[in-house]
Amino acid sequence: MTGHHVLVEGTGVRFSCAEGDTLLRAALRAGVGLSYECNSGSCGSCRYELVDGEVRDRRPGAPGLTARDRRRGRRLACQSEPLSDCVVRAPEPAEVTTYRPVTQTALLSAVRPLTHDMSEFVFTAEERAEFAPGQYAMIHLPDGRVERAYSMSNLGNSSREWKFVVKRVPDGQATSILFDKLEVGSAVVIDGPYGHAYLRPERNRDIVCVAGGSGLGAMISIILGAAALPDAVDRTAHLFIGGRTEADIHIPDAVLVARRRLRALHVRTAVSAADGCDPQPECGIAPFRGFVHEAVVGALGENIRDFTYYAAGPPAMTDALARALVVEGGLAADHLYFDRFC
Ligand code: FES
Repeated sequence: MTGHHVLVEGTGVRFSCAEGDTLLRAALRAGVGLSYECNSGSCGSCRYELVDGEVRDRRPGAPGLTARDRRRGRRLACQSEPLSDCVVRAPEPAEVTTYRPVTQTALLSAVRPLTHDMSEFVFTAEERAEFAPGQYAMIHLPDGRVERAYSMSNLGNSSREWKFVVKRVPDGQATSILFDKLEVGSAVVIDGPYGHAYLRPERNRDIVCVAGGSGLGAMISIILGAAALPDAVDRTAHLFIGGRTEADIHIPDAVLVARRRLRALHVRTAVSAADGCDPQPECGIAPFRGFVHEAVVGALGENIRDFTYYAAGPPAMTDALARALVVEGGLAADHLYFDRFC
């Protein structure tokens, strides 16, 4: 392998970085838990300082760094490609997840429309599909320059199958390739898994999953993961799905099947637009009128501190949920899991 050696100053931790890989991904591939969330240059969680060596910045001007960060010489590990051996100063190594990310080619095997602007894309990879429920992967689309993070909507499996629920973004470069250009049989590159907002089976608390937009995929995976646990019959799950109108809401069949293995699964929907809508036939409950975080607080009331929460969706949704649960509701922050993609 051609590449460079990276030393994390003051820790004795060293790892190799292949040519063209980023500092962050190389660290995670080597089992070194550098701090991160979005892997895309937005959240700022992977800030570090370059003590020695040379790196190429994939995304100069990325919003993950403030002007003050730049003045202080900070960089983003998820956007830094080493051009030489490097010494870096980084925060204490964070949690290392079970599955190390790998890069592999995958072929599109099916596309299933779910709503007017949301579909499930199924890829078959060349090597493996190993990930924890709730994690995400980076998908490099065929033109080689567009890469986006999407959460898997299935469970790790030996069929090498990676499923993603994707909501079309108006004028979005990546989703226009996915929805309009990619055909069954087309090849993409999948790099993953990544992310910390995955199911924690050791947490002996009932779970609440909150989904918006493409975040639905991660929450499907978490519900499926909970239903596959040996003690699933003793577990209760709540799933809240938010959208602007009822046309944005989809309740996946897989989730309703998972309900049979759990002690209970409560599904609720929330629509933020003012126009009227009918009850969802699958759950028999009229959608909550308002934002999905308001639906969560309204439904769980004074018990909101009794659950472990997983969330995925637009940053405005996850931020509002964190504010409602942690800041206003008194939930311990380590009972709420989501990866920031701001
Ligand atoms: Fe690097 Fe988010 S900015 S992980």
